[in-house]
Amino acid sequence: KNYIHKLVIDSTNNFAKEMASKVPDGTVIIAEEQIAGRGRLGRSWISQKGCGIWMSIILKPNIQPQEALNLTQVAAISVVKAIEEVFHVESKIKWPNDIILNNKKVCGILTEMSSEIDKINYVIIGIGVNVNCDNFPEELKGKATSLYLETNSKVDRKKLTASILNNLEFYYNAYLQKGFEYIRPICIEKSITIGRQIKVIANEGEIEGKAVTIDNNGSLVVETKEGKRLSIMSGDVSVR
Ligand code: BTN
Repeated sequence: KNYIHKLVIDSTNNFAKEMASKVPDGTVIIAEEQIAGRGRLGRSWISQKGCGIWMSIILKPNIQPQEALNLTQVAAISVVKAIEEVFHVESKIKWPNDIILNNKKVCGILTEMSSEIDKINYVIIGIGVNVNCDNFPEELKGKATSLYLETNSKVDRKKLTASILNNLEFYYNAYLQKGFEYIRPICIEKSITIGRQIKVIANEGEIEGKAVTIDNNGSLVVETKEGKRLSIMSGDVSVR
């Protein structure tokens, strides 16, 4: 296995992008602190020193670019399983990639890729887990939390990192061999989105409706007031 450990870095996803063509599939980049951690939709991700897991995994799967969403979901279930193993609590997935515990976010996933029309060059799965963090800026307090704040136990970040990576290896291989069908039931079981009234800001515009399921492609199926069913591949979801 190939690991690169950094004390301080701008963003492990940025570094992963620079390294991607030079390192083998499965290379993991971990930092103690990020000074320009990035979240989805151009947001920033607070990544204080030593309190969380800030890591990126470089993957080179032989799948179609539109299937990259599934890798985000593979990562999400791996984090949920790892939290279960290490903390014995059940966290949930806000489709497609926020990990929620007690209604607050403990982990975010930022998937980025470089691809051609029908071929992926590489995918970077960036995972940020608030493990032992205990101070969040005022404006995040209602929304963000850490595993320590929610469970009152501080764990060795190495233990959780190992469990996330073991689960990721297992579910990633299962996905490559057996397809999304294999992980779909777990995504559905752990979803906090399904069954709820939601609002999605998608490329197509704003969509309101009830999230009914996750389909065979990993898209979120939303039923609008008018009874129309829409499949959403990406977007910013808020649960009502
Ligand atoms: C989100 O919820 O918006 C995604 C947050 C992803 C944060 C992780 S931390 C490691 C990796 N490097 C980054 O700059 N971002 C991701």
